[in-house]
Amino acid sequence: MSFKLLSLCALLALCAIGTIANPIALDSRDDTVVNTPGGPRPKSQVHHVPDGASLHHTGDAVHIVSATGDILHTNILDKSQPAQGLASRTFMKPSRVVEPRAISTGYVAYTYFTNNSNANPISNFSSTWTVPPNPKTNHNQLLYLFSALTPASDDAILQPVLQYGTSGAGGGNYWATASWYLVGANTYHTTLVPVTVGSALNGVITLQKSALATDGTTTYTYNAQFTHSPYTTITITTTEQLNWAWEALEIYAAQAITDLPTGTTPFKNINMVNMNGINTPLNWLTRNDTTDGFMAMVKVDGVPSGEIDIVY
Ligand SMILES: *[C@@H]1O[C@H](CO)[C@@H](O)[C@H](O)[C@H]1NC(C)=O
Ligand SMILES: *[C@@H]1O[C@H](CO)[C@@H](O)[C@H](O)[C@H]1NC(C)=O
Ligand SMILES: *[C@@H]1O[C@H](CO)[C@@H](O)[C@H](O)[C@H]1NC(C)=O
Repeated sequence: MSFKLLSLCALLALCAIGTIANPIALDSRDDTVVNTPGGPRPKSQVHHVPDGASLHHTGDAVHIVSATGDILHTNILDKSQPAQGLASRTFMKPSRVVEPRAISTGYVAYTYFTNNSNANPISNFSSTWTVPPNPKTNHNQLLYLFSALTPASDDAILQPVLQYGTSGAGGGNYWATASWYLVGANTYHTTLVPVTVGSALNGVITLQKSALATDGTTTYTYNAQFTHSPYTTITITTTEQLNWAWEALEIYAAQAITDLPTGTTPFKNINMVNMNGINTPLNWLTRNDTTDGFMAMVKVDGVPSGEIDIVY
């Protein structure tokens, strides 16, 4: 089956799934909680997207589709649930966990931007950040440093993520990279690729194409990746434009300031281009966790050489 036909089928949800080699895989009832960039989630909702596979997010479902066009897995989206408020929930409200000496969890220092227009969506959002030194202490903390795009509905997030610690994608007391797509309660990630302290990472999110379906819906194909490894590439097709941009530090289960790196992590060479090939007039807003002293500082606003510093 051609990719085009398949995505159309997926979109219209008309395909006789039975004709496809691999029918819907049922989620196991593994309710072990693992951490994701959307917070803790049951393991049964966290899915590895195999190399070469892509995600097709229709109004009703998310399919993992193999490179050869087989549907490997399907999640039916639960429309009875209110929109998850992925970014706004985690971004806007860093919260304190109860352990003594614990520091805030969630998106503690970040910048965000949208120009509130659906005309000429963002087609390329690129940032370069350096792998920070390892934290001095380990308490099973999980740190994420990422760039991301989200839709105005705030029900999804596409993000190349640098992590320290163990997430649903794997890991340990080292830095590693993967790209993630979260929609509602469902979480998808690429293979996790370890990186060394001091290396420069280029995280890029691109809108590869948009297509008008026969029912009048436009679908957008986005890709998120780190340029150092093809294993970190995730491709998604969705009916939503991803018009909100983010650069962020997110933290879970840190118990002391020594569970974080010291100094500053700069996101550099920030560039954003729209579908007409024109640079977006970027203008970041910031959020800080003043209690714990984490800050996002706009060093150079705008593009093509923007810089945001995360200060620990
Ligand atoms: C996206 O932008 C970056 C930085 O400007 C550039 O290096 C890269 O080639 C672009 N990618 C695509 C697919 O246009
Ligand atoms: C932002 O806003 C204008 C309309 O005011 C639009 O033409 C432009 O292309 C938009 N998008 C981006 C990503 O720059
Ligand atoms: C966050 O901290 C940075 C650095 O001090 C500052 O420039 C920025 O205005 C702060 N943001 C807010 C919303 O207070």
